[in-house]
Amino acid sequence: MVIEKDKSLKHLNTFGIDAKASYYAEIRTIEDLCAVILHPMYRSAPKLILGGGSNILFKQNFNGLILHNLLQGIELLNEDENFVFLKAGAGVIWHEFVLYAVQHGWGGIENLSLIPGTVGASPIQNIGAYGTEIKDTFYELEAIDLQDATTHRFNATACGFGYRDSIFKREAKGRFMIVSVTFRLSKSPVLNTRYGAIEQELQAEGVTQPTIQDVSKAVIAIRSSKLPDPKIIGNAGSFFKNPEIPTSQFETLKAVFPELPGYPGLEGTTKVAAGYLIEQCGWKGKVIGKVGMHRQQALVLVNHGGATGQELIDHAVRVQDSVLEKFGIHLEMEVNIL
Ligand code: FAD
Ligand code: EPU
Repeated sequence: MVIEKDKSLKHLNTFGIDAKASYYAEIRTIEDLCAVILHPMYRSAPKLILGGGSNILFKQNFNGLILHNLLQGIELLNEDENFVFLKAGAGVIWHEFVLYAVQHGWGGIENLSLIPGTVGASPIQNIGAYGTEIKDTFYELEAIDLQDATTHRFNATACGFGYRDSIFKREAKGRFMIVSVTFRLSKSPVLNTRYGAIEQELQAEGVTQPTIQDVSKAVIAIRSSKLPDPKIIGNAGSFFKNPEIPTSQFETLKAVFPELPGYPGLEGTTKVAAGYLIEQCGWKGKVIGKVGMHRQQALVLVNHGGATGQELIDHAVRVQDSVLEKFGIHLEMEVNIL
């Protein structure tokens, strides 16, 4: 296995930030991974697992070892009358995994079509879209402890999934490399088309009896029309989480801003659309230097070309400050800052 030095990460993160890593290794087998983390030269080095780089913002160079996850393979582990247990190597591209399941008629992840990145990153923030999260079909994952190369298995309870959250963003942050994930998919899928835009897209296409293929296609069409393509304009999807605020606070705000979108959240909270809050503060489509919030989706921070990680963070903080001032709501960053 080759370990590269002073590796440019520009083409390995979807913001296109020109940061460098002191050391960089492509991980294609678990043996390679164990060999490199136990090697005396790298044992105590800070380590970062990199998948598709679609949820990372490099504020500075990374002074340590980047382990680029390229572990491949999709395997049907088991099946019964109703379900299949489908295991994927952590480096499989998420959307390719979704298409594989959809083509076989196995349901449960079709609403998550076209989310960038890898299967291995999907549990980190419990990826979600259009009324579905991976926790709904997740069965278990295998991970290697970066300290001692031991193997660990986590079921859904052990992962502590929440909205854009899991233990891998909290107490277990940076400790493991996820090497495979197994999903339990349905042979008789129940479609989830509650999210308004999906219904509208299916209607527009004249689909009256949708299949999971139709839902996947509808999601692809909606996403392609709204979200900027990172190959053209640097971004990492939603930069902030949608905030969950006490429902009483939501009702007070709603009296002043009747159009404020809100959805029932956990225990007396309401989840508010951060895109609306940011748009109301005047940031949608506004460009400051090389950065701004996207003109079609105010929740997406974009690099218009050549911005540094620090310039993007500075802009995110400006947006946070103005939303706090106008609405009294703190926006939490969703993207992983390094
Ligand atoms: P990376 O960005 O490479 O890594 C993200 C974090 O996970 C880092 O902290 C990294 O160290 C860690 N990590 C990655 N792989 C592993 C591993 N194998 N083991 C341990 N740690 C690991 N997200 C959604 O939830 N819903 C969306 O609808 C959505 N839409 C998006 C749209 C666009 C245009 C873009 C650019 C991003 C979007 N995202 C969305 C965010 C992103 O696609 C997901 O978070 C995705 O799971 C990141 O995968 P990745 O492989 O690129 O992870
Ligand atoms: N809105 C605005 N202005 C905007 C954007 C949104 O007013 O510029 C309002 C609209 O009322 C709209 C509502 O916000 O109806 C919701 O917008 P949208 O359906 O685009 O979804 P979102 O809440 O902005 C979330 C996820 C996305 C996910 C979509 C679809 C978060 C942080 N973001 O965005 O995930 O794809 O729903 O389910 O939860 C990501 O995590 O990177 C991501 C893209």
